[in-house]
Amino acid sequence: MKKSLAILSFLLLPAVFHLQAQENNLHHQSSSYQWPTDPQVGAKLDTWQDQKFGILIHWGLYAVPGIIESWELCSEPWIERDSTIAYEDYKKWYWGLKKDFNPVKFAPDQWAQAAKDAGMRYVVFTTKHHDGFCMFDTKQTDFKITNGPFASNPKADVAKYVFDAFRRQGFMVGAYFSKPDWHSQDFWWSKYATPDRNVNYDIRKYPWKWNRFKQFTFNQISELMHNYGSIDILWLDGGWVRPLETVTDEVRSWGAAIPAWNQEVDIPRIAAMARQVQPGLLVVDRTVAGPYENYQTPEQSVPAQALDHPWESCITLGNTWGFVPNDQYKSPAKVIHKLIEIVAKGGSLLLGVGPRPDGTVEQSEVAILKEIGSWMRVNGAAIYGTRISSICRDGETFFTQSKDGQTRYALVRLPEQTAIPKEIEWKGNLPKKGSTMKLLSTGTSIKWRIEGDKVKVSLPASFIKKGTCPALAFSFQ
Ligand code: GLC
Repeated sequence: MKKSLAILSFLLLPAVFHLQAQENNLHHQSSSYQWPTDPQVGAKLDTWQDQKFGILIHWGLYAVPGIIESWELCSEPWIERDSTIAYEDYKKWYWGLKKDFNPVKFAPDQWAQAAKDAGMRYVVFTTKHHDGFCMFDTKQTDFKITNGPFASNPKADVAKYVFDAFRRQGFMVGAYFSKPDWHSQDFWWSKYATPDRNVNYDIRKYPWKWNRFKQFTFNQISELMHNYGSIDILWLDGGWVRPLETVTDEVRSWGAAIPAWNQEVDIPRIAAMARQVQPGLLVVDRTVAGPYENYQTPEQSVPAQALDHPWESCITLGNTWGFVPNDQYKSPAKVIHKLIEIVAKGGSLLLGVGPRPDGTVEQSEVAILKEIGSWMRVNGAAIYGTRISSICRDGETFFTQSKDGQTRYALVRLPEQTAIPKEIEWKGNLPKKGSTMKLLSTGTSIKWRIEGDKVKVSLPASFIKKGTCPALAFSFQ
């Protein structure tokens, strides 16, 4: 099948496919949390909680035809693909994309600059997605970016250059790594059909095969931990690869097929190795609640209440994680509104961006990121380094406070494209008598008064003249 056919088939699919896709493969939020006992992990977690806003970059073979990340390889009923092609032929076509992936414009500095300009402070990059294609120079397989048309490029070991570019901008660095690997013969063995996302052979019958997969996983993560500089987060995706004893009724209710055997890769062993090399490393074994889920990762959603343990919502800027042509992006105001809610509820926002197959981020996305950044630059004090307040919100007003509790912040989300009002009011989190309130974006003191159980804040005329603004931020004591 030709690339053009794949693109055409994508365009013909109903747009709802991507929304459906996201409901079927979403990772939920664990219902329990265990604080780390290692003080170095605790310290890093606290530093990470100060960052609040990160970028999750999905980049891999799926960018070439511009289809959903990896999932078209999987045979679950919710996945759509071109019905004129037999499944096994489709897989062959997909594996063959490695000969077309030649991102000659690969510009990690452009990505890092765009993220920095947005006010982001940490990055998570897909070193390997479920399709098994490695975006780093692993020695464990040939299915990698350093073996193909891009091999002779000086930046062929892509992950290294991504991490370096973001470190230069002062970012914390996270390696996304998919535990399932659909390209590995020790995960999807071609002796059997591959009916769903899971290992396709009975591990109880072939323990040697599964042990080999475990060692392969260990070795790949070891390479990432040893050869790619300082790493802060190991973000492990594919929560269905988990110890059988952690498959609770709640996990079953998420709806994915669950095999009868123990499909786990020994995360305790991997984490011990990884932390020897990267002291204090945060391990994020998504949805596997316990010592290796150092923060929770609800996907495309925000918890209903504020939570006092670490968590992060991962949300796409468009509709999918990877690059899909003509995707529709959220507006800067929408992203800022999400970020405000997430931070007031004690979380961080990891925003998904998928670079193009040539290695650049789309200009329209760069422009959105820039606009988010111009709000963050003047209002960031109410976001970065804050913690939850005893009251999370009153309507569209959300509250945060400095870590030492000395300064409180109110963040007021304004409806998109409506004029800035002359006066704002909120209930519940009232300033102390006689204290100074500032409008963060101008740095000026502003007038406020208490009326009953509300504070009423008057906005300066010079500021109202601006017309519109996604949100206002105030500091007070
Ligand atoms: C889900 C999807 C995966 C995506 C990830 C990002 O796990 O399966 O494709 O990479 O979410 O959060």
